[in-house]
Amino acid sequence: MKYKAIKLVKRPDIHITPDVFETVTLETAPLEDGQLLLKQTHMSLDPAMKGWMSADTGSYIPPVALGDVMRSSGVAEVVESKNEKFPVGTRVSGLIGWTEYAVSNGQGLHKLPPEIPAEAVLCVLALPGLTAYQGLVEIGKPKAGETLVVSGAAGSVGSMVGQIAKAEGLHVIGTAGTDDKCRWLEDELGFDKAINYRSEDLAKQLRGATPDGVDIYFENTGGPVQHIVFGRMNAHGRIIVCGMIADYNTDKPSPGPNWLNIIRKRLTIQGFTMPDHWDKVPAMTAKLSAYFMAGKLKYRAHKLQGLESAIEGINLLFTGGNTGKLMVVL
Ligand SMILES: NC(=O)c1ccc[n+]([C@@H]2O[C@H](COP(=O)([O-])OP(=O)(O)OC[C@H]3O[C@@H](n4cnc5c(N)ncnc54)[C@H](OP(=O)(O)O)[C@@H]3O)[C@@H](O)[C@H]2O)c1
Repeated sequence: MKYKAIKLVKRPDIHITPDVFETVTLETAPLEDGQLLLKQTHMSLDPAMKGWMSADTGSYIPPVALGDVMRSSGVAEVVESKNEKFPVGTRVSGLIGWTEYAVSNGQGLHKLPPEIPAEAVLCVLALPGLTAYQGLVEIGKPKAGETLVVSGAAGSVGSMVGQIAKAEGLHVIGTAGTDDKCRWLEDELGFDKAINYRSEDLAKQLRGATPDGVDIYFENTGGPVQHIVFGRMNAHGRIIVCGMIADYNTDKPSPGPNWLNIIRKRLTIQGFTMPDHWDKVPAMTAKLSAYFMAGKLKYRAHKLQGLESAIEGINLLFTGGNTGKLMVVL
């Protein structure tokens, strides 16, 4: 059977341009013992892909080799199988790549419960929810009554962070790039306050929303919010550094705040990446499923149609054009 896949053939310069990809037609070979054929139904697009496309070998995961199918996670159905652990019809998630079909030996695939829709898997139970949980709960150690600020709050990770924090009894402030996104955070997700970080009086608004200072800052973006919140951290505050998307498409990284406040306020600042914590996925999934089933984790999926929509669509992440978890429906 013939199918389409997209290979990375060039490293992006500053922005991701269509010429870094090549769409190819591939053909499946007969399966060997232990193998299964996956038909991908939902493919995740994530900001981290920009880093995976670069030549950087010093990061937490090796770059995608030129000529390889672009790396991505997704949800798929087993359509042929010579592996008794994965019979035909099993739904799985895993690193499947920018491809309509993929052959696997089952390694790294997670079986999915049939009652949870694929969209909810990608929006809640996969990377966004796991990242939010690991960062907020395991690193941030939140306590009821504390104040949390999360940047990139209307995004897939940020919206989960804010909702888990609300479920844990925190006072939650989010920043996002449009008034519409802010309204969604306050009206639908129950954030105590959402602030458009493009506002001219951003510092004044953030001060007004955090009269008792900030105990936990969950950093998804960098940019001006970082500097303002850094100056409002309370003693023994925790800063969880999850992402710096404001710096992903620039050739000059922005300067960070001065370190003096780390001593004055005895701050803990910790970066993390989810791939270091795959061993905790079953326990975290159980917690996230419980929140989800209790209606405490709402989500928005931003769905593109067809494999090749990924080529231009990935840039929505860097313009803020995505409203919710960005994914391709195949
Ligand atoms: N450490 C980890 O393991 C891990 C795992 C997953 C994700 N992440 C990181 O978490 C962050 C959020 O990822 P996500 O998957 O949830 O994406 P997302 O938030 O759903 O989408 C990206 C959002 O970033 C915002 N953005 C883009 N450029 C910006 C800028 N210059 N300044 C401020 N905001 C900007 C846009 O929203 P606005 O409209 O609000 O600007 C955009 O919608 C990223 O930094 C990502 O790299 C880290």
